[in-house]
Amino acid sequence: MLLKKRSVIAFLLVLIACQIQVSAQVSAIKPGEVWPDNRGEHVQAHGGGIIKIGKLYYWFGEDRAKDNDPAKRYVACYSSPDLTNWTFRNKVIKTDDPANFGKGFVLERPKVFYNKKNRQYVMYLHMDSANYKAARVGVAVCEKIDGDYKYLKSFRPLGEQSRDIGQFVDDDGSAYLIFEDRAKGFHIAQLSDDYLSVEKEICLIKAPLEGGALVHYKGLYYAIGSALTGWDPNPNKYATATSLSGPWSEFKDIAPPETNTYGSQSTMMVKVVGTKRTTVIFMADQWRPKAQWDSRYLWMHLEIGDGKLWLPKPQPWKIDVKTGEWKYAEDK
Ligand code: GAL
Repeated sequence: MLLKKRSVIAFLLVLIACQIQVSAQVSAIKPGEVWPDNRGEHVQAHGGGIIKIGKLYYWFGEDRAKDNDPAKRYVACYSSPDLTNWTFRNKVIKTDDPANFGKGFVLERPKVFYNKKNRQYVMYLHMDSANYKAARVGVAVCEKIDGDYKYLKSFRPLGEQSRDIGQFVDDDGSAYLIFEDRAKGFHIAQLSDDYLSVEKEICLIKAPLEGGALVHYKGLYYAIGSALTGWDPNPNKYATATSLSGPWSEFKDIAPPETNTYGSQSTMMVKVVGTKRTTVIFMADQWRPKAQWDSRYLWMHLEIGDGKLWLPKPQPWKIDVKTGEWKYAEDK
């Protein structure tokens, strides 16, 4: 009897140890490495975007897990209090082809906005056919940030082609969709009051750029984009303007061009406003087209200000989201 009791206790201890192992804290942001979530699995949020609601950050992105049904497309949602430790919340989209895009349909770069007026979360998606000729945006909604989103519709924003999309919420709360239109360029467009449609063109930057990201930092707008080289990395570039509607400066490299943005492609810039400083994070994907589930993330604080923007050489670092301060991690 005593032996039985002991082995039950031993078994329980092993279970607890495993649990601790799985939910071990992630100590630093490590560009290019596997990023374990609370379950110990690599975060599946590629081509993603982040919104902060209350004290938590939510990261949405393409879920390309190896065991997903290849006929379906998935979007995952994770939450974090510190931008470093991510808890898996839900596969908020798991869908078959929702509107006859055809075999191998594309659902990429999900971006979620919170519409205060309707108390609704509104997700924009790049929806496409396998050959990327449909070039539309999709809209899905949910009452809960990590609930099952309902696909509503797809359309061409302002009647234009739209492939890679990005999201930008200005300091005054106005919400914008950034979209790449191969024929014309990089569009910045304002969403309607309910966010369910794209209402007004604010600017068309006539540059062949995708992976669009924007930040408003100390009175200047900074735009980042990547060249049109598919999954292959290229030297991402930035421009600045005092107004979203431009005029925009010429585009310059954000990193030594021979590094091809350290093998990454922009998806968003995240502004962390702390009690001591504001840090802007460059969020990018290091794609592995033949093993997409293993695509990595390159997140680095940017050197930004006075019209200049530079991506430092990637290395492990830490951010304190309360103070906004960052530092390099000891375990380089
Ligand atoms: C990239 C784009 C990705 C994906 C890929 C497909 O240019 O940024 O999101 O669409 O092309 O080749």
